[in-house]
Amino acid sequence: MRNAPSGVQVVPSLLSADLSRLGECLDEARAAGARWVSVDVMDGHFVPNIGFGPDLVRMIKERARLRRAPGLFVDAHLMVSNPEEVAPFFARAGADMVVVHWEACKDPRRALKGLRRLGVAAGMAIKPRTPASRLVPLLGEMDLALVMSVEPGFGGAKFLSSAMPKVAALRRAVSAAGLRCRVAVDGGINRTTAAAAARAGAECLVAGTAVFGERDVGAAFKALQRTAENSFNH
Ligand code: DX5
Repeated sequence: MRNAPSGVQVVPSLLSADLSRLGECLDEARAAGARWVSVDVMDGHFVPNIGFGPDLVRMIKERARLRRAPGLFVDAHLMVSNPEEVAPFFARAGADMVVVHWEACKDPRRALKGLRRLGVAAGMAIKPRTPASRLVPLLGEMDLALVMSVEPGFGGAKFLSSAMPKVAALRRAVSAAGLRCRVAVDGGINRTTAAAAARAGAECLVAGTAVFGERDVGAAFKALQRTAENSFNH
């Protein structure tokens, strides 16, 4: 199983990138220090949007290899109703981590074990209406617990501060159990909300608009990364 980059990480989400210059956007983020990107996979059923497929993961990994640049850790965030069927496509495409939604898993524990059997790091996400307590008993089976701070499906949505107590609860549970699971947040992350999320205990912050929606992607990434590092103290 591949290990995610350690420490506080701002994770650019490609959903908000300019698709006509996706490669350059990736290069700019990586040159600024990004070591992890998130690929949003959406089926138009679990969330009301259609997202990327395995070929994008393959392209990202291949581009990094050809450039002999520091590799990019790539997670595939499956916002789909059948994550266990879809996950192998992304593992075969080279995803380092696959994130499934608790709400889409008939047997969440089995789903997490299945991801690790695929040789990828296992992540599990919860939507805004799902309590953090659903993930607590499963933290030992996952490498990332992802709290959605927007209703998933689109970039640029408004940050839901109601996600912060969930982040804090998961951070406490991970620390109390001495687990290595990362706590992450995704949605509406900018310099203000990144500080709040990092203070609450999120060390991985997925950001789309605040990075790729800016004219200077590199500067935007660096500013967000600095804010997150300065605010995280767990
Ligand atoms: C859709 C995706 C998010 C989204 C974040 O909800 O899961 O990752 O791309 O985009 P921003 O940062 O613009 O809210």
